[in-house]
Amino acid sequence: CGIVGYIGERDVQQILVNGLSKLEYRGYDSAGIAVMEEDQLTIEKAEGRLKNLKGKLEQRPLQGTIGIGHTRWATHGEPSDANSHPHTDQTGKFSIVHNGIIENYMELKEELMEKGAVFSSETDTEVIVHLIAELYNGDIVSTVQSVIAKLDGAYSLGVITEYEPNKLIAVRHASPLVIGVGKGEHFIASDISAVIQHTKDVYVLQDGDLAVLMKDKVTIMKADTGESVRRAIMRVDWDVDQVEKGGFEHFMLKEIHEQPLTLRKTMLDRINKENDVVFEGLDLTPADFDKIYIIGCGTAYHAGLIGKNVIEKLTRIPVEVDIASEFRYRDPIVNDKSLVIVVSQSGETADTLAALQESHRRGAKVLAITNVPSSTIARDADYVVPTMAGPEIAVASTKAYTAQLITFYLLGIYLAQEKGTLDDLYRVSLVQALKELPMQVENILDDAYELKLFAQSIKNKKNLFFIGRGLDFAVALEGSLKLKEISYIHSEAYAAGELKHGSLALVEEGTPIIALITQQDLYEKTVSNIKEVKARGADVMGITLEVNVDLFNVVDEVCFIPKTNALFTPILSVVPLQLISYYTSLALGNDIDKPRNLAKSVTVE
Ligand code: G6P
Repeated sequence: CGIVGYIGERDVQQILVNGLSKLEYRGYDSAGIAVMEEDQLTIEKAEGRLKNLKGKLEQRPLQGTIGIGHTRWATHGEPSDANSHPHTDQTGKFSIVHNGIIENYMELKEELMEKGAVFSSETDTEVIVHLIAELYNGDIVSTVQSVIAKLDGAYSLGVITEYEPNKLIAVRHASPLVIGVGKGEHFIASDISAVIQHTKDVYVLQDGDLAVLMKDKVTIMKADTGESVRRAIMRVDWDVDQVEKGGFEHFMLKEIHEQPLTLRKTMLDRINKENDVVFEGLDLTPADFDKIYIIGCGTAYHAGLIGKNVIEKLTRIPVEVDIASEFRYRDPIVNDKSLVIVVSQSGETADTLAALQESHRRGAKVLAITNVPSSTIARDADYVVPTMAGPEIAVASTKAYTAQLITFYLLGIYLAQEKGTLDDLYRVSLVQALKELPMQVENILDDAYELKLFAQSIKNKKNLFFIGRGLDFAVALEGSLKLKEISYIHSEAYAAGELKHGSLALVEEGTPIIALITQQDLYEKTVSNIKEVKARGADVMGITLEVNVDLFNVVDEVCFIPKTNALFTPILSVVPLQLISYYTSLALGNDIDKPRNLAKSVTVE
């Protein structure tokens, strides 16, 4: 979910709706705003995309200069008008927006109902506003303090009330929230993209902070004690253009095309004149740990699979990769001899954050690879290596993934340098190959015609397989996820050698298969697997290095990628897969940047 809020002198409706449009990637099951009109609170909300809310607001605009807004990704309660935020109590005097989950809402709800509260939604959020109404003592700040003392779970909140129309209360507890600082106006938002067009100065609230926003003043305190705290103002250097589509039809296509640049940016300052990899301020001693864990969700997890391969090959330190939601509950053997690397584009994914905390509890040092240096994960980690992908808006991750990959390459080389397992000549050849990658990605992007045709040929298929061995298998998983996310075509990724142990039964005449075959030492093995599926009637598209022209004899179509070091092929081979997913989804007329049921940033467990 995403929340916004404003207090100042300008027309609040437009600011809120605008802010919500930047946050829609966090969920788009419904949207709503609450505005203080004169001295009366008015709420408007609508199920579905923001445009439904906009439609309603065109009929009946809300006028005022203070308000809050919300875009929802449904957790408790189906997507509906009633379950949309902002919520209010029976008196209609209070209104709140909430991002997170209130774990003890059932018992609170029962208590409130016994006392006569009438609920109008199925959400966990509604208990908060009823509690505020019940406990209101003439001072909204202390009332909110006593309410949150009763809440278990994760929440960031925006609260306004008719009784004190010159205040907007913001609370952060295990869900992100920033405050935008303007002249005579202040903003709250789940993330910076919603305020950046108005101001570049933000406070990043910390867990347990409560902020009181007035037109000319912001006070931040600890929510539990009321003790005032100082938070430094951070200046954000993203510009508004970076957050807009820049001439592309969709954010996803724009982000795919940004990859040469984002790869260069992520490598910048990481390679010195002697072709050593440098990480200023990262004083990691590989001898201090005997095992590395890599943890992430979704695409970040897939990047971790490549990371494992690279780090193990270059350093010979054993690496395990975990899905964050599994790791946290599996009693992992992590201790002070472990290095845990968490990977997260947003830096706010609840499961990844919990895995980080679990690792800390067990005594491990945690390094975060994240695209948002101001995020919770970045703040909680012992070391942070930022990916320089810039804001990623499309739900399906592309440039953040390749930025994570290049970071793993750099990190792998760095750890190997520190450990002394890397021969100088080999290091120089690796670094030189790294530097060529952005240009090689550009070449792939320049020639997407065949991929568009291929997308047309699979758009009406029901099933599709991605196969590969080693690193190619890890990329196959990411390719399959991309296709599922935005085209809704069912697909599976298989280790090429594993297909015959079951899933081969699904292959029939015309089943499309995308075979990744970029690892020269495994080339013949994968070719055998391709022959197995061809013999069952599959249509195979091969993705391979330019040198493997003879693959034409085995498959129906080939997409060539430039030659690079075997470790680095994933950065190149994933690009055609991103484009295939994009063009398939485009041919199907889907909502590419905002696929159904998904959210970009999942801040609930
Ligand atoms: C969501 C997104 C995915 C992303 C995953 C992890 O599911 O839709 O694209 O890979 O979260 O997000 P993170 O921000 O932690 O990388």
